[in-house]
Amino acid sequence: MLKVIAQVGEDVLRTPASPVIHFDSKLQSLVDDLLETMLNANGIGIAAPQVFIPSAIMIIASRANARYPDAPDMDPLVMINPVITPVGQSKIKGWEGCLSVPGLRGFIPRYESIDVKYQDVLGQHHAVQWSGFLARIVQHEHDHLVGKTWLDRVESMTDVIAESVFLKQLTPEK
Ligand code: NI
Repeated sequence: MLKVIAQVGEDVLRTPASPVIHFDSKLQSLVDDLLETMLNANGIGIAAPQVFIPSAIMIIASRANARYPDAPDMDPLVMINPVITPVGQSKIKGWEGCLSVPGLRGFIPRYESIDVKYQDVLGQHHAVQWSGFLARIVQHEHDHLVGKTWLDRVESMTDVIAESVFLKQLTPEK
């Protein structure tokens, strides 16, 4: 079922998420709704607080689409109770958007490489080490679980531009 996406200013986007304890059919149903809502909005990631549910659930689903023409393709990956550890201290800046911050893009610093420990919908434990754009999405979605958005990571107001300008720069007129 499609959920309403919380827009910046809603309290839920400032609320730290609670850990998931019950890995049951209700959780699976919520994950299904999150995925449907994300795909419908051309998102490449989403976190439960974005649909007004302050639980530590996020989906990483990089895929080239109209909002992210250059994103690498992957199958959607559900991460529950994720814990991020930076690998090294190196950060790189890259452009980000957010379904909860419509119409804007920000040039945001993120760790280049991270370890992520998480549980799947059945409660099984997993660990991955990711770099680059996927590491960026994980850090972006994880921010939603600690009550932050990319707006909190902006270093300079010149690093914030309209989404329309961002997409125009990506695809110059032929
Ligand atoms: Ni977001």
